[in-house]
Amino acid sequence: MILLKVMLSKKSILPISTTVSKRGHLIIGGCDTIELVAEYGTPLYILDEFTVRSKCREFKIAFSQRYADTTVIYASKAFLNKALANIIKEEGLGLDVVSAGEIIIAKSADFPMDMVYHHGNNKSIEELNMAIKNHISRIVVDSQDELEMLALIAEEKGYIPNIMLRLTPGVDVHTHEHITTGFIGSKFGIPLFAADELVEKAMAEPSLNLVGLHFHIGSLILETQPYEESIDVVLDFAAEMKQKHGFELEELNIGGGFGVRYTEEEIVPGVPFFAEAIVTRLINKCHQLNLSLPALTIEPGRAIIAQAGVALYRVGGIKDIPGIKKYVSVDGGMADNIRPALYGSPYEAFVANNMLEDKKELVTIAGKFCESGDILVKDINLPPIKRGDILAVPVCGAYSLPLQSNYNVSLKPAIVLVNEGERRLIRRRQTYDELTNCDLL
Ligand code: LLP
Repeated sequence: MILLKVMLSKKSILPISTTVSKRGHLIIGGCDTIELVAEYGTPLYILDEFTVRSKCREFKIAFSQRYADTTVIYASKAFLNKALANIIKEEGLGLDVVSAGEIIIAKSADFPMDMVYHHGNNKSIEELNMAIKNHISRIVVDSQDELEMLALIAEEKGYIPNIMLRLTPGVDVHTHEHITTGFIGSKFGIPLFAADELVEKAMAEPSLNLVGLHFHIGSLILETQPYEESIDVVLDFAAEMKQKHGFELEELNIGGGFGVRYTEEEIVPGVPFFAEAIVTRLINKCHQLNLSLPALTIEPGRAIIAQAGVALYRVGGIKDIPGIKKYVSVDGGMADNIRPALYGSPYEAFVANNMLEDKKELVTIAGKFCESGDILVKDINLPPIKRGDILAVPVCGAYSLPLQSNYNVSLKPAIVLVNEGERRLIRRRQTYDELTNCDLL
């Protein structure tokens, strides 16, 4: 296949391996996306293995070069299946899980349980039992009630789990209100004013081993300041606990949240920029407070997987409302990617079978589901589109797949992993039998 070196600027939001063929087809991981949809149908999600692995390495290198004692944990809620768990394991990252289902996937990929962190604001007794039975590395405790329940389970099982306390540092994060979590009053975490008592309780509890503190202040964070402020707040608290209760902070987990670009105009700090600010503040603040340097844990989800994913749709009806709008409808939408409807998230799109066309017209990409809010991309300039064209929406690797639904009794799409010209189906499309079999007459 002859590939053109043209077009994709260095700052492209498409997967790193993306090129364009001489015929103007979008090529990802050396695979022609038009051939992929001919084989697997649409909507189809493509994951570029090279991008996933590069992002894992970028995080590991950026942080460990500056702070050797760093562990990178992939937040699996951004997307997890068996094949991805395997890649994350091979790259030497840990895994953040929040449910029995995520633990089951991790186990099915033989993920080392001493690299798994268990989160969640309402872990069930079953989930805590599972975490203890599997000797999960850390259980990140979210409330007093959970601390007490876990202590009983641990005593009964005769196993002492390592725990962290999740704190809400009360720092303002400029992101969508649905994805900010570090404010006092959040459903996640323990407000600082209540945390003193919990540190004392956890330290006094013989069936628990308190190793550190955690915070996760939100997602899609585009500045370093909220991390720096949260580090200050939580280290001040750690120093106070040391003085009051003799608490030693062995590990500080600063969560995930690192922003990514969804559109070409957006400016987002690179991973080294985040790493530099976070590590500098951590070291300086520890010195200032006379605290020993703790192990550092980070939990990126979106920033590992978002850019690797591209959604491919087939264009159907085109509706031109003269002087008002031209709608281009595709065969997917809010059931496979609810992010535009839920958060007003901006996306870009490309015509995958016509990447070399310069002529552009203003259109709006509509999903096929029965909601007026099912608009994938508002007002975008694209080459002239006709029924049957293939539309590619980039940066669909994070939180689109896990938030998918069967709205309008639609089927969840297939996922294909691509790399160096090879393709592998890593999730097949659902079938109508699978959906209707759950229904009882
Ligand atoms: N750690 C914890 C404890 C979390 O709750 C999360 C995300 C992460 C790490 C990873 O954050 P990330 O690096 O991916 O930003 N559905 C929303 C995002 C929800 C984030 C939930 N927690 C969206 O589509 O934007």
